[in-house]
This record gives sequence, C-alpha cells and structure tokens, in this order.
Amino acid sequence: MPAMHLPLAQSNNLAVSTTDISLHSIMDHHHEPLSSGHIRTLLIIIGTTAAVIVLSSTIVFLLPIWKNTTECSDYCDHNIINSSTLPSKIQQIEADFIIIGGGTAGCIVSARLAEYGFQTLLISSGSNDTQNPLMREQASYKQLLHNTPHFKHYLPLSSSPNLNNRTLDVIVWNTLGGNSINGGGAQRLTENEWNYFINATGDSSFSKEAMSKYYKRTENYITTGPFSNLNLHGNNGPIKITQVYDSVFNQIWKNVANELNEPFTNDLADKIDYGFSFESSSFTNGIRSWSCDKYLSSTLNKYSNLKVLTSSTAIKFDINEQTKQVNSVLFISNDGLFNGIARKEYILSAGTFFSPHILMLSGIGDRKILQENNILVKHELKQVGKNLMDNGMINIKYQTQNFSIGQSIPMAVINSKTRTTNNNSDTFFRLKMNSNTKDLDIFIFNALPKSTVGFLSLHNSNPLMPPKITLDYFKDSNDLNIFINAIKYVRKVMSTDTLKQYANITEILPGLQEINLATYVRNTLNAAGHFSGTCAMGQNAENSVVDKYFKVHGISNLRVVDASVFPANFATKTGPYLTVHALAEKLVHILHETYL
Ligand SMILES: Cc1cc2nc3c(=O)[nH]c(=O)nc-3n(C[C@H](O)[C@H](O)[C@H](O)COP(=O)(O)OP(=O)(O)OC[C@H]3O[C@@H](n4cnc5c(N)ncnc54)[C@H](O)[C@@H]3O)c2cc1C
Ligand SMILES: *[C@@H]1O[C@H](CO)[C@@H](O)[C@H](O)[C@H]1NC(C)=O
Ligand SMILES: *[C@@H]1O[C@H](CO)[C@@H](O)[C@H](O)[C@H]1NC(C)=O
Ligand SMILES: *[C@@H]1O[C@H](CO)[C@@H](O)[C@H](O)[C@H]1NC(C)=O
Ligand SMILES: *[C@@H]1O[C@H](CO)[C@@H](O)[C@H](O)[C@H]1NC(C)=O
Ligand SMILES: *[C@@H]1O[C@H](CO)[C@@H](O)[C@H](O)[C@H]1NC(C)=O
Ligand SMILES: *[C@@H]1O[C@H](CO)[C@@H](O)[C@H](O)[C@H]1NC(C)=O
Ligand SMILES: *[C@@H]1O[C@H](CO)[C@@H](O)[C@H](O)[C@H]1NC(C)=O
Repeated sequence: MPAMHLPLAQSNNLAVSTTDISLHSIMDHHHEPLSSGHIRTLLIIIGTTAAVIVLSSTIVFLLPIWKNTTECSDYCDHNIINSSTLPSKIQQIEADFIIIGGGTAGCIVSARLAEYGFQTLLISSGSNDTQNPLMREQASYKQLLHNTPHFKHYLPLSSSPNLNNRTLDVIVWNTLGGNSINGGGAQRLTENEWNYFINATGDSSFSKEAMSKYYKRTENYITTGPFSNLNLHGNNGPIKITQVYDSVFNQIWKNVANELNEPFTNDLADKIDYGFSFESSSFTNGIRSWSCDKYLSSTLNKYSNLKVLTSSTAIKFDINEQTKQVNSVLFISNDGLFNGIARKEYILSAGTFFSPHILMLSGIGDRKILQENNILVKHELKQVGKNLMDNGMINIKYQTQNFSIGQSIPMAVINSKTRTTNNNSDTFFRLKMNSNTKDLDIFIFNALPKSTVGFLSLHNSNPLMPPKITLDYFKDSNDLNIFINAIKYVRKVMSTDTLKQYANITEILPGLQEINLATYVRNTLNAAGHFSGTCAMGQNAENSVVDKYFKVHGISNLRVVDASVFPANFATKTGPYLTVHALAEKLVHILHETYL
C-alpha cells in the first residue's frame, strides 16, 4: 500500500505524518507462529492513505520487552528513548532511498545518491560530532579512544581461553562518521586480495584493476615524495590521503629492505603491492579527512533532497514474507518512533556489528539463533553474523636514540604467498614514534589469519541491546605462530646493519630477557578493529549473505555495504578502511546504472 509522498526537501523540520498507536508489538515474536487466526491488523489512517501494522495475537507492550533485559543498563544506548519515555505515536517518513548507518560507507552512499537527485534519507545512531576538534585532530585520537562517550566499548560475555582468559574490548564509534575516527591507515587491497573477491563472487569486476577507479573516485591523493604516481591515484575525490616522504628515512628503509632481500615500493597501489613501503594516511598535517565530513556535511547545504537524522537508531525492517520485500524500517529517535518507507531501496551500512544485528532483529538470519531469541524467522540466511574476521594486533616497543622517521610511517607487508625466497609469516607492521616518550612503537598485524575470530548472535530480542559477541582468537594455533614469527622477523629488521648504524635501538617489549613469546602474544593481543565478514559477499545463500550487487540474497530491495560484506574467511592485510570507500563507490555505481 503506497504511503503518503512526503517531500524531504522543503524545511528543516521533517515533514512527517503522525498517528496514535496504543498497543503494538514492534518485534515479531516467534513463540506464537503467525497464522491468519492469530493475526490482527491495526489500520492507521494517515491523511488520505493508510498503513497497516501486523500484530501477532500475543500483543506485547513495548515496555515490558525492553524492561525484561537485565544487563541493559550496562549496554543500552542511553541516547535513545527508554521505557519511561516511550512514545505513544508512530510517525512516517518516506524517501527514494533510506540509508541506515551514517558511518564510513553510509555517508558516501547518501551523499552520492543525493548528488544523483534521489530523495535520500540517512538515519544514524549517535550524534553529529563532526565539528568537535577531537574528531579531527590526530593528536587527540588516543585521548578520544579511551575517554569519550562516543566510543562504545563492548565486552564479549566470555573471556578468551587462548588469550590467558582475558576479555577483549570491542570498540565501536557511535556517531556520525562511525569508525572513520580511526588510526588513519588508508591502504588499498593487493591484487591477490581482490582475487579473493573474484573467487567469492565469480565476478571479475572485483579485480584490482577494475576496483582502481572506485578508489580513485574517493581519493584526493598526494605524496610529499619526489616521484609522481598521479596515474595510480585519484586527485579529485573528497577524501584527502597523504603519504609523507622523509628523504632520510626513505633511503634507510629502502636499505633495510635490500639487506633483508625484500621488495621496496614507493607506492603500494603500484605493481609491487607488498613489501617495504610507507603508509598512506587519512591524516594530512595532523587533520583527519573522513567521509562524514567530506562527502556528507560538506554537501548537505547543496542538496535539499538529502536529509540526515542523527540520534536515530534503526530497530528492524518490516519484511513481507510472501514477496520478500522490505515494507519499512522502524527507527527511534529523540522525536519518537518512526516508520521509514523507501520507494526504491534500503541500504544497510551500520557496520560489522550492527548490520547483521538489524538483520537478525528483522527475522533474517540463522533460524536457530532467531528461534532461541523468540524472533520470527522471516527469511533464513545462515551466514548472518558468522565469519567475524579481524587481523588481531600486538605492540612491541623499542627505546631509541637519534632515531627519526620524520612524519613518515614506515611499514611492511610481508607476504610469504607472493615471496618464494623467504619463509616469513604473513604480517603487516608499521612503525610509529611515540611523541611523548620518544619510544618507537611497532604495531604488528596478522595479514593472513587462518581462522575467523568469532561470530555474532543475540542476547535477546531487545533491539536496544547490542548483539552478543563471541570472540575466539587463535582457534587455529597457526595464528599464534604468525605473531611469534612476526616478532622474530621485526627483531631481524631492527638488528639490520642499516638500522644499527642509523640509531641506537633497544628492545623494551617483549624485552631482551628470555621471555616466552607465546605468552607475550597471548597476554597482549588486542582486537585490531578491522572487523569484517558478518554479512559476507558470495554467490549463494548457503555460504554468504549478499550477492555481488550487495543485495541480501532473496530480498528484493535491501542491500548492505560496509565492512561486513568482505567475503568469508578473508581478512584485509593492512586494514579495511579505504576499501570500504571503494566498495561504497562501487555500489553507488551499480545503483546509478540500475535507476538512471
Ligand atoms: C579503533 C579503530 C582503529 C582503526 N584503524 C584503522 C586503520 O588505521 N586502517 C584501516 O584500514 N582500518 C582501521 N579500522 C577499521 C575501519 O575504521 C573500519 O573498518 C571502517 O571504518 C568501517 O566502516 P563501516 O562503514 O563498515 O562502519 P562504521 O564506520 O562503523 O559505521 C557504522 C555506522 O552505523 C551507525 N549505526 C550502528 N547501529 C545503528 C542503528 N541501529 N541504527 C542507525 N545507525 C546505526 C553507527 O553510529 C555508525 O555511524 C579501525 C577501526 C577501529 C575501531
Ligand atoms: C530514562 O529516561 C529518563 C528521562 O530522560 C531518565 O531519567 C532515566 O534515567 C532513564 N532510564 C534509563 C534506564 O536510562
Ligand atoms: C581459563 O579459564 C578456564 C575456565 O575457568 C580454566 O580452566 C583455565 O585454567 C584458565 N586458563 C588460564 C590460563 O588461566
Ligand atoms: C582463486 O581460485 C583459483 C582457482 O580455484 C585458485 O587457484 C586461487 O588460488 C584462488 N585465489 C584466491 C586469492 O583465493
Ligand atoms: C554536523 O554539524 C555541523 C555543525 O553544526 C554542520 O555544519 C554539519 O552540516 C552537520 N552535519 C550533518 C550531516 O548533519
Ligand atoms: C644523538 O643524540 C644525542 C642526545 O640525544 C645528541 O647529543 C647527538 O647530537 C645526536 N647525534 C646525532 C648524530 O644526531
Ligand atoms: C620454512 O619454515 C618451515 C616451518 O617452520 C620449515 O619446516 C622449513 O624448512 C622452512 N623453509 C625454509 C626454506 O626456510
Ligand atoms: C649510540 O650510543 C653511543 C653511546 O651513547 C654513541 O656513542 C653512538 O654515537 C650512538 N650511535 C648512534 C648511531 O646514534
């Protein structure tokens, strides 16, 4: 049934229609299977049109559902309405496209669709903090990470047996911009990594060469080095990416690579896309460039057909089981409860943890998990929430004297798959000077994890509870060995003649005394934050969640784009950040071809 067409453009105040709702269940509960006798419909008259809300006979008050959860006070999003301020009205809003989640990918898709002239509505949890200097300044990043309410810390319920029973912290940035507020590393995928996408999708438009144009669309790339790589990069895109060249250390790092018989490349986007190089960053002179700011906020005034609702949390999609279509997305904000209706499509970009969460709350997921949580199965897709992947990260430390890397970020992607001469573990590491202590920090990542690191399920059907996160790093002990070998490898790097002559360097951590490296790794491994795979892309509904067009298998008007769509059993070597941009640009291209 068509809903009222509500132009988004006219005023700052949303044009919405409102009606009273007295009783309804917003969640479809499983324990009373829907049958015609059990269905009641509540007709809501909205002006000249009507919307239908289907209710199960077990009418549950909104209030008890949300109250029933014991741990909610620790976990629930306090920005949004709680049971004591429960709205009594449901409002309706309509657009061509509704994007759920204004993070790295969501801001790109929203801005581009608005640019193409579509009425575009972006709904995102958290506030708009783009003007907060803490978000922009590299120097504030660490402080921000630990001390602001914008970052949500989720503790998996169970501790990790392979990590000396520690409970890892999963950090999710809950604000417009999402996890763009990160370490800034902005690397492309290698040719071999894109081959993994091709294998998963059967689609050669995911080749390194074909994907290059989407990276270029997003990039405004500069290197401060004396070499030109303009043909490799974009220089008109919204996101400023800078590779800092330090003439002294560039030569040193090159010599280190030579001494170890490893390749060196000035630009990892070039033919040689592994080995020793320097990192490209979304920071330029200490200021961050990110999609929320550069795609979205900067175009908001330009496109009156773009509407952004912050502090608006999606609760679920209402799915028609027969037609397998999304009817609407239910969301809640400080202004109350809303039904968002997309004339064309819904684009889910709530990130690796919340995109699968919203699907599960909507009845799309593993039947077993949904039934255990009393959620009616609308469309079974086993892989929703599975395949959680991350590189994992450890930090080792050196005390230095006369060691300078300038503003450059030396790094290396050591890849035994593409190297035949060496027998090194698949690792990515980067060097960073600690500006306070002058210590040299080396961050080491597992560039080719042998196993996923966990999966998502639900605590219960309360939409305000975050998903249940189960983490299990080093399920495959080879992943532990990769880190052990990586420490040995970095020690080799740090004791090259080149570096010894360059500066005095003393290992502080793990330290020179005989320490068991396995113990060190188990005691210090952290999540890298490179989480992906929970709505994996692939060819069929058995093995994946979305197809090569980012469409949820079996649902006609719902797509997912964010870090969750990376294929199963795949982890990026250097981080997903820049590639999330390229995937968003690819989806935008697909939508352009479909609708224009
Ligand atoms: C601490 C940290 C450091 C990192 N450093 C790097 C790095 O140096 N290099 C690199 O390559 N990668 C890095 N990453 C990874 C990278 O930042 C992420 O992979 C990427 O930003 C994910 O983008 P996304 O679009 O998938 O999700 P996000 O950017 O997280 O966006 C999700 C958005 O959805 C919103 N949302 C969530 N739930 C709802 C809901 N129910 N309703 C409405 N909106 C909702 C959130 O508010 C958020 O805005 C880092 C990650 C972290 C956490
Ligand atoms: C719910 O909201 C009210 C009013 O804003 C507030 O006083 C109360 O503390 C909140 N309760 C919870 C559990 O967050
Ligand atoms: C971790 O916890 C389990 C279960 O409580 C216990 O059996 C095991 O000994 C613990 N391991 C370590 C290293 O403490
Ligand atoms: C892709 O599949 C081919 C053929 O099965 C295989 O040889 C190749 O190693 C795969 N590449 C990747 C990156 O998985
Ligand atoms: C966020 O707030 C800033 C400052 O108020 C504003 O300029 C910007 O347009 C806002 N962005 C969005 C997407 O609402
Ligand atoms: C090395 O550092 C010391 C003290 O920090 C300083 O006195 C000396 O000049 C430096 N030497 C070089 C070659 O930079
Ligand atoms: C590579 O490592 C494996 C396992 O540690 C070892 O058995 C093998 O001999 C090594 N190969 C080379 C060429 O060093
Ligand atoms: C290392 O330290 C020693 C003693 O402090 C000093 O003489 C030497 O010059 C230093 N070497 C470098 C490369 O800085």
